[in-house]
Amino acid sequence: MTENPLKNKHILLAVSGSIAAYKAVELASQLTKAGALVDVILTQAAEKLVSALTFRSVTGRKAFTDSDLWGNEEHVVHITLARRADIMMVAPASANSMAKLAHGIGDNLLSVTALAATCPLVVAPAMDAGMFNHPATQANLKILQERGATIVGPAEGHLASGLKGKGRMLEAAELYAHLRYILSRSNELAGKKFLISAGGTQEALDPVRFLGNHSSGKQGFALAQAALDAGAEVTLISAPTSLTPPVGANLIPVVSAEDMLMQVTNHVDQADVVIMAAAVADFRPATSSAQKIKKESKLKELDLEPTTDILKALGEYKKSKKPSLLLVGFAAESEHLLENASKKLEGKNLNLIIANDISRSDAGFAVDTNEVTMLFRDGKQLKIPKQNKEVISQKIIDTIINLLRD
Ligand code: CTP
Repeated sequence: MTENPLKNKHILLAVSGSIAAYKAVELASQLTKAGALVDVILTQAAEKLVSALTFRSVTGRKAFTDSDLWGNEEHVVHITLARRADIMMVAPASANSMAKLAHGIGDNLLSVTALAATCPLVVAPAMDAGMFNHPATQANLKILQERGATIVGPAEGHLASGLKGKGRMLEAAELYAHLRYILSRSNELAGKKFLISAGGTQEALDPVRFLGNHSSGKQGFALAQAALDAGAEVTLISAPTSLTPPVGANLIPVVSAEDMLMQVTNHVDQADVVIMAAAVADFRPATSSAQKIKKESKLKELDLEPTTDILKALGEYKKSKKPSLLLVGFAAESEHLLENASKKLEGKNLNLIIANDISRSDAGFAVDTNEVTMLFRDGKQLKIPKQNKEVISQKIIDTIINLLRD
């Protein structure tokens, strides 16, 4: 069953001395809420900024400091922590801790544990821009990268020194997303390529106005996240949305149905699975005015022309060129849900269609929940009762995993 890859994983979160240590508390909290088992190590400098008790309170587990290195309970605490870790993240990673990691120095609990660990290492630098740009720090960064560590950030922005520059640690949610992605890579869909469309296309009338729809992109983005969680490589072709794309997705922003058609056509050759979750406009203005249409023009009618049905074109491509392509569509219906969805399944030559009743206020467009029925080519139907779009997406991805197995 597809689930958040962080669930039940041992995350070793090593916190060194940077004011960004407060963000590590939020990260530990988010990871714990996702079901991860978070072991925190604080350096002496980190202890001056946040306490072990703070971490213990959010993780429900002992947080370790240098006093544990020579401590009473276990004399090889660094080995225990290193062995059970599925992944180690140093966040914030100060210039000093990065130097120790790069050169194999083991003079505190963080650095000896890093020496003992064989799991993937993720480093989230946080320091002043000048320290980050220093040739010594850059050389250490390169050593760590060449040794296989993943470096995430730092970002440009306001620094504790009052200056602006590159050195800000990424936010907790971003660090969480990187860990989630790295831990997903060997899951069942590893090596499978997914092409997913999302959002509602916009068809320009003039430079300020467009014909659009209520799609928020939530379902398509949630499907991209669920496919990534299951190990897939995901290209996400998205019409404009306010959502942040999942870490690891190759985002291709588009605006109109025509743009989406072009990008889908460019990428379909490499795909094993295509999911068309986008609400693509069926009509566009026959002409788009280069200048703003003025009130005085007394526009009474709009001349529209049909767009290409992308999914139908994909169905034809599947028939003539690539029968192995697994094609999944959505059917947004306000009446005769299953009958209309079934017609689209056949007519567009799909393997699977997800029927969506958009007449309900708690399902379909722009809300967080959905209730769908999956229709298969052999006539089978499977209802997924009302749930949030994340869970619906996991169930759809599980269904696709089964179809790929067949
Ligand atoms: N679709 C598409 N290109 C279009 C219109 C729709 O690829 N120009 C895809 C959608 O992404 C969805 C499926 O076709 O996966 C069904 O879309 P929907 O809007 O439910 O139906 P239509 O085929 O547009 O038919 P109608 O609007 O008449 O219901």
